Formats: sequence, C-alpha cells, structure tokens
Amino acid sequence: MPNLNFVGKSKVVNYHRDVSFRFLEHQYGSSENMIIHGDNLLALRSLLATHRGKIKCIYIDPPYNTGNENWIYNDNVNDPEIKTWIGKVVGDEETDLNRHDKWLCMMYPRLRLLHELLSDDGVIFISIDDNEVANLKLICQEIFGSRNFLAQIIWERAYAPVNLKKHFSTSHDYILCYAKKISEAVCHGIPRTEKTDSMYGNPDNDPRGLWRSDNLSVGPAVERNIYEITGPTGKKFLPPSGRCWRVSREKYDELLADNRIWFGSDGNNVPSFKRFLSDVKQGVTPMTIWKYTEVGHSQDATKQLKEIFDGKSVFQYPKSVELIKRCLQLYSDPDSIILDAFAGSGTTAQSVIELNREDSGNRKFILIELMDYCESITAERVRRVGGDFSFYELGDPIFVDGELNPDLSKDLFRRYLYFSETKKEIPPMNPDEPTLLGINDGIAYHLIDGDLNFNSLAQIKTRSNSYVIYAESCTISQETRDQFKIYFKKIPRDIRRI
Ligand SMILES: C[S@@+](CC[C@H](N)C(=O)[O-])C[C@H]1O[C@@H](n2cnc3c(N)ncnc32)[C@H](O)[C@@H]1O
Repeated sequence: MPNLNFVGKSKVVNYHRDVSFRFLEHQYGSSENMIIHGDNLLALRSLLATHRGKIKCIYIDPPYNTGNENWIYNDNVNDPEIKTWIGKVVGDEETDLNRHDKWLCMMYPRLRLLHELLSDDGVIFISIDDNEVANLKLICQEIFGSRNFLAQIIWERAYAPVNLKKHFSTSHDYILCYAKKISEAVCHGIPRTEKTDSMYGNPDNDPRGLWRSDNLSVGPAVERNIYEITGPTGKKFLPPSGRCWRVSREKYDELLADNRIWFGSDGNNVPSFKRFLSDVKQGVTPMTIWKYTEVGHSQDATKQLKEIFDGKSVFQYPKSVELIKRCLQLYSDPDSIILDAFAGSGTTAQSVIELNREDSGNRKFILIELMDYCESITAERVRRVGGDFSFYELGDPIFVDGELNPDLSKDLFRRYLYFSETKKEIPPMNPDEPTLLGINDGIAYHLIDGDLNFNSLAQIKTRSNSYVIYAESCTISQETRDQFKIYFKKIPRDIRRI
C-alpha cells in the first residue's frame, strides 16, 4: 500500500503518545453530554482515560485547508521544522507544500487519538473537500487500515452554480467513512419513509402484505438457469439475451407454488419476483451520493443556524443537521456516544438531540471546540435547541517533557494519583486523615510526604483490606509490608502514566 510522506511526519506519527494527560475541568452542568473548550489534541488525549474504545460514531469537519482559513498550528511539536510553522497563519498558493504539510501534521495525531477512542464496532465520518481529500484518504488508509474503508461519500452541498467561477463551480464536498473494524460495523441503513415504501403495493391482495415486483432475470447468463417459463395464460417466456433467471428451475417451481411469481394483473407480463416489504431490512442501503434534496445543502444549514440565533449570522459554513443525522442514523445505536472534535457551531449536538427525539434514543454527545465561541455559539446553540450538557475547560498538564509538571499543585497531584489508580474523582479530603486519597474496591490509597516508615504509618487511621502508599522512599521491610498488605509506590518512579 502506498504511504504518504510529508515534511514533519516522523515527528508526528507517535506524537499523540507524548501529549500529557490533563483533567477536563468541570465548569457547570450535570448532564452526561459534554462540551469541551480547548485544543482537541489535548482534549482527546484526556478523553482516552475514560472513553478509550467507547465511542460508537465520530463525525468531524476539520478546516478544509482552503488557504483562506485562519486555523493555527499550535501543537508545540518540538521539531525545528515544525516549530517554524507554529503560530503562523496558513500560507497562500506560493507556499503550497508547507500548507499541506502543516495540515497533515495537524491532522495525523488527532486521527490517531480518534482511532483509539472508537469502539470496535465504531465508525468515523470526516467531511473534506478537494483541497485535502487525496492526502486525507492516504493517511486514513494508514491509520484506520485500507480494509476498513467504507465509503467516500459525495455530499451535494450547492444547488446552483456560482457563475463568477472561471472554470467549474464545485457543488459537492466529500465525507470519508472508515470503520474501526469492518467486520464488526453494522450499517442500519436509511430509515424507510413513506416515499421509499410507496414503491410497494398489493394488487393481488396477498395476505402477506405489501410487495413490489423485482426483476426475475439477472446477468451474466448461467447456462443451467436458462429455461422456458409458461405463464398462467399459456404465454411462454425466456430470459433476455445474455441473461438468465435468477433462480434454478426447482427454486422457480417452489416460488411459483408459494405465489411469489407475478405475471401482471392480466397474467401476460414477463414474470417477476414478489419482494415483500416484511422481508426487506428495516433500513434502505445508503448510496454514496447524498443529494441536497435528501440531506440539505449549505444554504439550508446557514438558514437553520440563523433561525436559531434570531436571524443573526453567527457562524460561517455550518453543516446541515440532516447531513450529520444521516451519518448517525446509519451507524449509531440509541445508546451510543457520539463525538465531534471540531464542533464549530454544534450541528452534531443538534443532530443527536433531534435523532433522540425521533427514535426515543438516549445517545450522548461529546463536542470539542478550540475557539472562545465554544460557549457563546456551540454551547448556546445546544441550549437554544433544548439540549443539556456539562461544560469543561482543559486543566494543567500533569507531565511536561515526560517529567512530572514541577508547577503541579499538591491538590492536583493527589487527584491525579487517585484517578490514575481508580479512574475515579478523588473524594473530599478528610482533615483527620490527610494522607488518605480515597478507598476503592477495598484498597486504601495514601500519599505520604517523604519516607514511609513506622511514624508515617501511624497517620493511617481507616482500616482497609490493603493499602497502596505513595512516598519518596520506604524504610519498612518487605516482610512487614507483606504482613499488612501494604504496596509501596515510589515517587516519581511508580506514578502511572494515563
Ligand atoms: C469547519 S468548522 C466545523 C463546523 C461544524 N461542523 C458546524 O456544522 O458548525 C471547524 C471547527 O473546528 C475548530 N477547530 C479547528 N482546530 C481545532 C482544534 N485544534 N481543536 C478544536 N477545534 C478546532 C474551528 O475553530 C472550527 O470551529
């Protein structure tokens, strides 16, 4: 498989592993839906601790790298090549190579994290246009695996040409779609509608209900399935040239006896196969061109958003709710967690909320948005469409350059130690036993200043089945520790990285 090489690639391929964990600091709200303000690289890294392998559906709409956007490369990658890019606004046509390299360096580690967050039966949808679709597909083949490619969907986003364009007026975007493991992904199809069901009728009052006639012939021809059929009026039929009947003579006789062959109301038509609505799957298999008549166009999306914000234009180029809803209909379940790491105006949240209302689902969303409008637009939209959420800011990094952050407060250190052991928030400190971080599953976790010895052990008051004690050193013998089920963890050596 061809791999894409780009300047800086060697530095970003595993860069996501070097990003420090930081707590998502809760600001307000009590919902399981999350809106996180901050750089998605950092937020996704933190979400790994709690959501690895748990996200069923990801939709992202990253900057398209048109050369006109103000996205800023701000990853602090310690590579001189990349450092020179930091903080610079994306260049114009003359610096084309740099522009693509920079975009790929931005996307690569984020896609790696998104891949880790997906559940085994999860699916990711990525909106993109001609500027980066070819590059994006190559790195996705690498990160998600070419065997997990599901589709390159075309979204017809415009309904009329822009006549000012010299050559073509582009009327579509793409949505790249990959499964985490194609063998586990289940496509629910597009929900059936009155329109799709209107193809079904029941002209012969079949007690099995609605059906539609389907072609009985298929191509190319298989010799043994070419035979003569005699209709109810005695008229004889052979399959058209180059084709054969779709079933063997024996199977045909069975279908005929079961009243599943149709020769038209007067019995003179070419035979067809009766396909019952009750036999087809609940959803319609999606095709890869999504027309604006089905999922809306860009102007629809802008109008929808304006209406929510009292006629004010607050965000350029949002996606349509119907478009994202279609993605979620295809691959999410009513209890799935949905993630959008480039949230913009929050269209994904509205799509989740609407879909839940339609099918009484309980899907949860996680949105991440870098810009300050995360509160005034992203979160505000969710409020205005009747959704609830909890709002988070990014906390301080726990590690800097691979070492414990020297500026870490004691409280944050205690909180991290407990979280790294239990994946739970630390309970409030008990002033009578300040070394105790908390008790989980019969294990008491303690942080002792300096040396763990018999004097410091005396500070432990609450009895437990066993004890994990963090300290800088330990002068209690292994035998005594074993006797009292004490597990000593040396700081900083034994601090777990999450
Ligand atoms: C094309 S817009 C998404 C629009 C969205 N789909 C909608 O319908 O409103 C991309 C968004 O990603 C945000 N973004 C860009 N880089 C980001 C980063 N590193 N972390 C989080 N958000 C980022 C931008 O601020 C912008 O709001």
